[in-house]
Amino acid sequence: MGRPDDLAYYDSDPVVRSDEGVGETFASVLANRLTRRGLIKSGLLAGLAASPLGRIAASGTRVPAFDDGLHFSPIQPSTEDRIIVPQGYRVQVVARWGDPLHANSPAFDPNQQSAESQSKQFGYNNDFVGFLPLPFGSTNSKHGLLAVNHEYTNPELMFPIEGPKAMNEAQTRVCMEAEGFAVVEVLMDERGEWKIVQGGRFNKRYSATSEFEITGPARGHTRMRTKRDPEGRSAIGTFANCAAGKTPWGTVLSAEENFQDYYGHASGVEDPKEKRGNTRYGIPEGASSYGWERFRQDLDVRHEPNGPHMHGWVVEFDPYDPTWKPRKRTALGRFRHEAATTYVSKNRRVVMYSGDDSRFEYVYKFVCDKPYQPDNREANRGLVDSGVLYVAKFNEDGSGEWLPLVHGHGPLTEANGFSDQGDVAIDARIAADLLGATKMDRPEDIEVNPVNQRVYIACTNNVQRGTEGRATTDKMNPRVENKHGHIIEVREEGDDHTATKFQWEMFMVCGDPSDPSTYFAGYDRSKVSPISCPDNICFDLQGNLWIATDGQTNTLKHHDGFFAVPVEGPNRGRLQQFMSSVPDAEVCGPEFTPDCTTVFLAIQHPAEGSQHGKFTTLFPDGKGLPRPSVIAIRAEDGRVIGGPPKGASRRSLLGLQ
Ligand code: FEO
Ligand code: CA
Ligand code: CA
Ligand code: CA
Repeated sequence: MGRPDDLAYYDSDPVVRSDEGVGETFASVLANRLTRRGLIKSGLLAGLAASPLGRIAASGTRVPAFDDGLHFSPIQPSTEDRIIVPQGYRVQVVARWGDPLHANSPAFDPNQQSAESQSKQFGYNNDFVGFLPLPFGSTNSKHGLLAVNHEYTNPELMFPIEGPKAMNEAQTRVCMEAEGFAVVEVLMDERGEWKIVQGGRFNKRYSATSEFEITGPARGHTRMRTKRDPEGRSAIGTFANCAAGKTPWGTVLSAEENFQDYYGHASGVEDPKEKRGNTRYGIPEGASSYGWERFRQDLDVRHEPNGPHMHGWVVEFDPYDPTWKPRKRTALGRFRHEAATTYVSKNRRVVMYSGDDSRFEYVYKFVCDKPYQPDNREANRGLVDSGVLYVAKFNEDGSGEWLPLVHGHGPLTEANGFSDQGDVAIDARIAADLLGATKMDRPEDIEVNPVNQRVYIACTNNVQRGTEGRATTDKMNPRVENKHGHIIEVREEGDDHTATKFQWEMFMVCGDPSDPSTYFAGYDRSKVSPISCPDNICFDLQGNLWIATDGQTNTLKHHDGFFAVPVEGPNRGRLQQFMSSVPDAEVCGPEFTPDCTTVFLAIQHPAEGSQHGKFTTLFPDGKGLPRPSVIAIRAEDGRVIGGPPKGASRRSLLGLQ
């Protein structure tokens, strides 16, 4: 819940908080600098006056009704091959796989695609999307940089072949350039149309062949030394970049998730410690899923036993500085990272949350040693190199603890195979096992709500929960064979995100609301939209939670989508569907501009599961190949996404006339 001193944040004009930057995500740091009175006039913050926060402000003023700020007509679930949004909204395609980024980039030609051309074009399977305004430090909502993760490739859709292992070397090298990270300058014109600025000076691709600096406790570690770099200070390539997070200092922390799919032949390693690690991280004994090691020896564990230690990290990129070499931040631990959300807590202490997205894996957070310095970008870029990594233990009574993964503490000693903090970072999963962390149902995105400061964890699903030989249900993961997933709400002790204790409660148990095992924060189930497999989440300026899904086609038999739900007031739990996607595509991003009048969504892997030439969708062009794309959704009248029509009176919004 908001503290009374937060109210100044909404009432002054313009707002510059004396503790500017504290208690803020990147988006809210920017939003903080907006002129609040203008937003209130426009109706954007109308609900706050009537929210629990507003009640405190009014102290004694009777509040006639409640407005959560959401005023769109929810759409119905769909299986149509088109993007559906509520009446009054428009969809545009901003960036598609293959779109040229540089002045000399070739136009997309699926029949002539080469590694060289792909390295200058927008990549495949866009997941995370971050909007970073231009210039740096502004709240510009019409011009900025899109920072995008390109998680993986679908060779069977990109090429006329049956699957990844049928790729020849040239096709494999296209895929290596199609993954990683992109920085793309985008500009909105007078008509509200977003376009890529081809040749923009910040435009840049990082891929599976780029070089990265290793920083933190694993830098120079014996287990990081490779034939290419015997010093263990650099690595080649980023891939499997799934979710990510913007930092308040304008960089992006990108999460390397399913890196195990890129390494092959772990059977070639005899050392017991390495065998233990490779087993725990799922590095295959035989060939990898993608088969890249056929053309790259550094991905063949027989050739490079330390290879798998190069990935599974959080990577820091600086979209505003194309000359800055990105860093693999090993202090944050090695696992299948999903999400990397930074938050500036009390005393300017920086905290980062990350989930390990596999069945029965853990939720982590990292607390930086040094404070955030709003005016020292250079110092902030090194913040996540020193601090304490914690893993979450949830108790059934609603309490929880953050357990430190610190070498020498508890079982994290030489006797258990941990010689130093570098070992703890490299084998973070094993360290977390030893501490007795809580096995969760695939934690995906984790975000801090900038309005109520609570932490929301999307557990997407876990069909093995409670099955034979696997962990049974508990209050945190309450369903056997959990197909639909759930969302947990955490309140750090004293709203201090560096705290080692927390309280948690179940916010939502997803599924078709006619299923009595679903739960929508106590809201009337007959009045909510069906939802399954929550994945990426974000918040609007009023603190409403927005959820993108990944997997509804399998579980609810309709397409993935984008949903909004208030987390405060009488409408807490009133989930409504805002958007429906195209066949066989998950919805990612999501990302609002600072003024919340545009939302960017990533349409990932359209037509996945179909074969080349028999595509289930040809999104977005209706011809050629399906192309993963970033879209923008805006209202025709430029209103805030999900908000009231421009010019609507407050009385009408509250249903008083
Ligand atoms: Fe790439 Fe966990 O989703
Ligand atoms: Ca995801
Ligand atoms: Ca997110
Ligand atoms: Ca997912």
